Amino acid sequence: MKVADYKDIVFERKPPIGWVTLNRPDKLNALTLTMMEEISDVMDKLWDDEEIRVLVIIGAGDRAFCAGADITMFQGQKPNSIFHIIRKIVDVTQKVEKFPKPVVAAINGFALGGGCEIAISCDFRIASEKAQFGQPEIRLGIIPGAGGTQRLSRLIGLGRAKELCMLGDRIPADEAYRIGLVNKVVPADKFREEVENFANRLAEGPPIALKMAKYACNFGTQVPLDIGLLLESGVFGVLFGTEDMVEGTTAFLEKRKAKFTGK
Ligand code: COA
Repeated sequence: MKVADYKDIVFERKPPIGWVTLNRPDKLNALTLTMMEEISDVMDKLWDDEEIRVLVIIGAGDRAFCAGADITMFQGQKPNSIFHIIRKIVDVTQKVEKFPKPVVAAINGFALGGGCEIAISCDFRIASEKAQFGQPEIRLGIIPGAGGTQRLSRLIGLGRAKELCMLGDRIPADEAYRIGLVNKVVPADKFREEVENFANRLAEGPPIALKMAKYACNFGTQVPLDIGLLLESGVFGVLFGTEDMVEGTTAFLEKRKAKFTGK
């Protein structure tokens, strides 16, 4: 079900999954500020939507997830305006990290520059075997500006991150998998089906525990280990107040599959 008319994305609400399609296939889904506002609006709409348990971000067409920020928007801008533009993209990546449900980037082609940066702010990356990744900004005389240097360094380590950010090479899906940039590489002809299977598996999980696991990973790793461990202990305790914890342990003892409700 389509719930709103957007310009640069298509949003489909198909419980338990919300699908955001980056929709500028002629421009390899290059990202615009309108696209950022629209993704942000979808997250606002789904934030408390209990029927939607997973958000998937995918690219329209079969060539690209997103080939980066639309380069035309940087032309003729003053440094201060560029700062504001780039912060709007960063805001979306941070909102994805705070979004209380798992977010899956489904990468069917190029994930370059801002496209790669959006993908690495998501919780999971499923790539088609035809996907290609890269931070080519250095070739434009600039650097990644929406988290590439920061999140890539944390995700794949400093050495690999510097290779991507300082050489600007594109790497294929199998290499991205080898260095831990993507979770899974799937055949191109089964791409959508594999993404859906992955998202459905997440959707069967206990929503509150999934949210807490996401937050503990995303935010507990930004502070000293002692504090991160304390945060983990705290949310571990909180989960013992949920009906899903009772359901999960009862189902285990009764040797049946748990049915989690998010309560
Ligand atoms: N911004 C604006 N337009 C973009 C774009 C971007 N980041 N990436 C692709 N496009 C547009 C192209 O200008 C072209 O538009 P046109 O048909 O109106 O000329 C269209 O998308 C198709 O791209 P094209 O370059 O013709 O395809 P290709 O197969 O020859 O090359 C890429 C594909 C991805 C290698 C190439 O498009 C590219 O290098 N894009 C820029 C990647 C980048 O530097 N991103 C970081 C931006 S900060």
